[in-house]
Amino acid sequence: MSEDNIISVKCRLLELFSTLDNEEVAHVEKWICSHAFKKDLEIKKSLTNSEKSLVKIGKTIKKLIPFNAELPSETIAPPTVGDQADVTKESSCHIDEFLYDDNEVEDLTKQGKLKRFYCLDCNSRNIKELTLLSHSTSRRALQCIFKFLLPKDIEDKQILDVGSRLGAVLYGAYYLSNVGSIVGVEMNKECCELQERIIGQYSMDADRIKVIHSDILDRSDIVHNSDIIVVNTLDHFLDADKHKQIWYFFKKHIKKGSYLITSRSMADTLSGLEIFDELISWITICRPNQMENEVFFAPEDCDEIFLYTVN
Ligand SMILES: C[S@@+](CC[C@H](N)C(=O)[O-])C[C@H]1O[C@@H](n2cnc3c(N)ncnc32)[C@H](O)[C@@H]1O
Repeated sequence: MSEDNIISVKCRLLELFSTLDNEEVAHVEKWICSHAFKKDLEIKKSLTNSEKSLVKIGKTIKKLIPFNAELPSETIAPPTVGDQADVTKESSCHIDEFLYDDNEVEDLTKQGKLKRFYCLDCNSRNIKELTLLSHSTSRRALQCIFKFLLPKDIEDKQILDVGSRLGAVLYGAYYLSNVGSIVGVEMNKECCELQERIIGQYSMDADRIKVIHSDILDRSDIVHNSDIIVVNTLDHFLDADKHKQIWYFFKKHIKKGSYLITSRSMADTLSGLEIFDELISWITICRPNQMENEVFFAPEDCDEIFLYTVN
């Protein structure tokens, strides 16, 4: 690093420190002089590296699928029950959070490639903000799952992503954790082919990561053999009856002590399906297992990811 760069770094640090009071400065100074700081710096670098791998995969996927990330063979419809029951095709727009993070969404909006509003009665200024929907887990949420919520060492565990779609959770598990076995079960064949293509193109270890084309209801064996089960909201892809059936099926087949990770609180999902009283005691909400990494996350980063243990 050149002398000029170092001066510029010092200047940026001073800018930041000048916003702190004396006690806060002392706290930060103690942290920088500690062993913990070196460890945190290593983790930060490894997070940046895995982020690069995931961004690269996202760029490849963007070239293979339409801008709205909905494949021709998919049937996606707003749910009729639950907290998104008021969403319609007219009032929403799909932008995939794994492929486009908040900054990219903002850029796309500025460039006019993504519209954020719709007109309530044509040609008027009576407009309303569109609901942005994503059917993938964002890169930030993946970091939160693997670097904050789950235990650090999961080498002897199997993770299952129910409905793995573009494969975001599978790639996140691959690059952000040491989990021994990564399985995606996806009922849409085109999505499976896309995930297999990415796994091959990026030379991922086929003994560690695989995708199975199936309805999850036909694979109780995989559910039972998994220690960590990820369920991102399924309700745009199935009707309420089948959705209910899936939760009863999970209650029957997920083994005790497994982790369940969801992108909507289970209380909301089960209430929406009117099976709250029957199923809520089956799971217990869980504290993050890697609290030492909280420095990498803003409170809102992990707002939409929930970790439970199965009782
Ligand atoms: C919201 S997407 C989840 C994407 C992915 N898990 C993630 O978090 O990035 C839901 C996916 O579940 C799939 N799916 C829905 N019902 C399913 C079922 N019964 N068996 C297998 N896959 C299913 C859909 O085809 C869709 O690709």
